[in-house]
Amino acid sequence: MSKKPALPRHIAIIMDGNGRWAKSRFMPRVEGHRKGVLALERVVKHAAERGIAALTVFAFSSENWRRPAAEVTALMKLFAAGLDRWEQPLADAGVRLRVIGDRTAFSETLNAAIDRTEAATAAGRSMQFNIAANYGGRWDMLQAAQAAAAAGELTLEGIEKRLCARDDGPVDLMIRTGGERRISNFLLWQAAYSELYFTDTLWPDFDGASLDDAIDWYVGRERRFGMTSEQVTSIG
Ligand code: IPE
Ligand code: IPE
Ligand code: MG
Repeated sequence: MSKKPALPRHIAIIMDGNGRWAKSRFMPRVEGHRKGVLALERVVKHAAERGIAALTVFAFSSENWRRPAAEVTALMKLFAAGLDRWEQPLADAGVRLRVIGDRTAFSETLNAAIDRTEAATAAGRSMQFNIAANYGGRWDMLQAAQAAAAAGELTLEGIEKRLCARDDGPVDLMIRTGGERRISNFLLWQAAYSELYFTDTLWPDFDGASLDDAIDWYVGRERRFGMTSEQVTSIG
């Protein structure tokens, strides 16, 4: 009888360390973001190949607007360009894309690109891929709670089914690269029982093997959900 978890169903990644990657090479920060996009492409492909059901990545937090305007603009451009480039490969791989976050702050062009890519990949069934952009965990809980209250369903289930990534369930494994050990207002609700994996690897250096390391670590954890180790073992 095994008490160890199988593969994580839902993996979340806080992709951190692009700026430091660039700085250590005397390059502009945006070069780190550019390399970060390549890392994301590797990781999405690898996660889908490993049979992960859902992958949610933190691309831009609601607090990242505080960065220098030029960096914000460059990030938005990389985002739009990425959507265009990924549309076909994602659709071919059966990966369904959803952008989660407050989209009201994005330009019309960017929103149109998001709509297009979401529609083009809507039939995908192999993996759900969520990009969190202008996302904040507290905002997500608030908008879900407001919608639940308006529907007269202010319960845990009522809130949960109105979160942005409502169909993907709790996060089993949350990974943060770049050495910091914090959640930075990511998927707060879904992280309630996540296994938290921190690595010093900077995001542009992260690859399929790094994801395998995180998954291997996860598989060795004992998830108790409030019970004792003996109880978890006997339930199997
Ligand atoms: C993460 O890398 C990417 C975004 C937040 C958009 P950073 O840009 O935060 O990189 P560091 O933390 O400065 O190294
Ligand atoms: C978190 O990284 C957000 C993203 C990875 C998009 P930050 O680099 O913005 O987080 P803090 O500010 O160090 O907590
Ligand atoms: Mg950072």
